[in-house]
Amino acid sequence: MKLFIDTGSVAEVEEIARWGVLAGATTNPSLLAKEQGDPGDIIRRIAELVDGPTSAEVVSDDADGMVSEGIALAGIDPRVVVKVPFSAAGLEATSRLHALGHKVNMTLVFSAPQAILAAEAGATYISAFLGRLDDIGMDSVDSLREIVEAVADNSTGAQVLAASIRNPIHATVSATLGADVATIPGKVLRQMLNHPLTTSGIETFTADWKTRPEFADWLKGLVAANEA
Ligand code: G3P
Repeated sequence: MKLFIDTGSVAEVEEIARWGVLAGATTNPSLLAKEQGDPGDIIRRIAELVDGPTSAEVVSDDADGMVSEGIALAGIDPRVVVKVPFSAAGLEATSRLHALGHKVNMTLVFSAPQAILAAEAGATYISAFLGRLDDIGMDSVDSLREIVEAVADNSTGAQVLAASIRNPIHATVSATLGADVATIPGKVLRQMLNHPLTTSGIETFTADWKTRPEFADWLKGLVAANEA
């Protein structure tokens, strides 16, 4: 499963891109609205940092407006993927943008029937939301499972992009259910790092190594010799 970061924060992408785990990024109007600076510059910088597909979302609610905005957004950077909210107009816009050669991420998808339509409209990515389903007491795992199964053998090449990821369990479930991509907020990516046994294991290794001070000299010498 590929990992995208779900953010509008360039600083956050700079931090996490260094881990070497990001294959792309997604933004949305809410995430960009939190940031200072020109949205175009932010989108372009994020695309440069992840050097992969970077979603930028249209805000019109009619197909013509979505297409015009999508073409303009795609012009920001070759890595920009046009994000289109799911609706009948969104399907039309996705179909037209796809015909023009643009990649589309259809977002705000919550059911398998919606995902099937998005795939047939030519979406490259289908953003299947988890957290917002949980928020209203619906089962996000069942929903994602159905969406993955419904889209699995489609001939369109559409990829299921798990979105609205609220915790590390959502990331794990997305992978185990077979999502092609998960777009994960920086906060959750940092949570995925942590396990108490990892922390205590590192502490134990460090303490045990220090019981042999000569080993520290040995390793420093090895490094120096290698860098000479
Ligand atoms: O960016 C799309 C999606 O990941 C947003 O998630 O947390 O606003 O439901 P959220």
